[in-house]
Amino acid sequence: MLRSEIAHIPVSQLAEEFGTPLFVYDAESIRKRYRELAQFDVVRYAQKACSNLAILRLLREEGAAVDSVSANELHRAIAAGFSFERDPKTNVEPCVYTADIFDRETLDLVVEKDIPVNCGSIDMIEQLGRRAPGREITVRINPGFGHGHSRKTNTGGDQSKHGIWLEQIEECKVVAARYKLEITGLHTHIGSGCDFEHLSQVCGTLGKIALEFGPGIRMLSTGGGLPIPYRPDETEIDIDRYFRLWDETRRSLEEAFRHKITLEIEPGRYLVAESGYLVSEIRAIKHQGDNLFYLVDAGFNNLARPILYGAYHPISVARKDDRKESAEEVEVTVGGPLCESGDIFTQEDGGFVAKRRLPKAEVGDYLIFEIAGAYGSVMGSNYNSKPLAAEVLIDAGKAKLIRRRQTFVQMIQNEI
Ligand code: LLP
Repeated sequence: MLRSEIAHIPVSQLAEEFGTPLFVYDAESIRKRYRELAQFDVVRYAQKACSNLAILRLLREEGAAVDSVSANELHRAIAAGFSFERDPKTNVEPCVYTADIFDRETLDLVVEKDIPVNCGSIDMIEQLGRRAPGREITVRINPGFGHGHSRKTNTGGDQSKHGIWLEQIEECKVVAARYKLEITGLHTHIGSGCDFEHLSQVCGTLGKIALEFGPGIRMLSTGGGLPIPYRPDETEIDIDRYFRLWDETRRSLEEAFRHKITLEIEPGRYLVAESGYLVSEIRAIKHQGDNLFYLVDAGFNNLARPILYGAYHPISVARKDDRKESAEEVEVTVGGPLCESGDIFTQEDGGFVAKRRLPKAEVGDYLIFEIAGAYGSVMGSNYNSKPLAAEVLIDAGKAKLIRRRQTFVQMIQNEI
């Protein structure tokens, strides 16, 4: 399709002012998605999806808590104004570390700063217990099944490295008790880009597991994984229905334990995916046999989802000028600048090159990869010594640079 603006600002203006490749985010889209989840007691943003400080700050101002999976994500949370201390008014931990291991740096940091930890392995419980006995922890459970938009994003079941295996709950309790760690919450995340069917199986299973842990449990986290429609034929998840399922589990536990249970949700993609656009410029148009290629200045160094998962992103064309051509469409393959044949945006799982019907375009026109706000910029790399792209946030009609394009000097500064 043809697109002339992003959040009411002409694409050509954005590209001229900030250069390409450029990630552009629409603040209002993030707020809208956040507010849709208001029924949950806590919306904990999985910042791995897009951890730019401006985005973190925006979500903090909306009232979100944050999940961090590394020492630097913890530092990011602090830099964006989150605290490591429980909010006395809401009793919510604004920032939690969730992982399956502690690297040494992160263990030191969580011990020193008393950061809440969600443990995905018994070794984490053991290592934290030895260093900081007597704390409260939550645990991430692998419920024995999982599902994701790709095999690579399925995080449950026995082929997944994530979470504490459901048959090791006794052992988990024993190790926690040895160090007087109090298990106060249960978390699970069975995969990203899951479907309703699989997501809804989780709450029943986690409810049963909570009964095995007993009344010490005061928090249930549904994890992330909420899908969003990438393809035109995909539909939205029914949030109300999803909430009701979890709410039922929560209520039955409240009855059994006779105290309140906080219900958390931990989305990444749902909050930011649709807000983000990767704007690139068409730099060459090639005919190779029967195939027509648009080659742009963004590659899998900017958006790795197609090469990693065969992920589909809608693609639109913005004209470099005001020429009013008909939107005649052609079948094209879209590739990037990298010196690797897999640098193709229109590919399917398994690396099969596919074609897309796109408006006829010229060199100098812009190609926009849409729904690129989640796992786009954050998965960027310096492959082929390409700089990390610039990022812009549009809010109240104004486009603000929220990350400068990386320079060559920054790229090589640690090389000796
Ligand atoms: N919580 C935990 C513990 C997670 O591991 C994840 C994602 C999330 C929450 C957020 O999941 P979401 O709501 O965004 O689906 N690079 C892949 C996605 C990997 C997700 C890893 N963990 C992609 O581009 O689809």
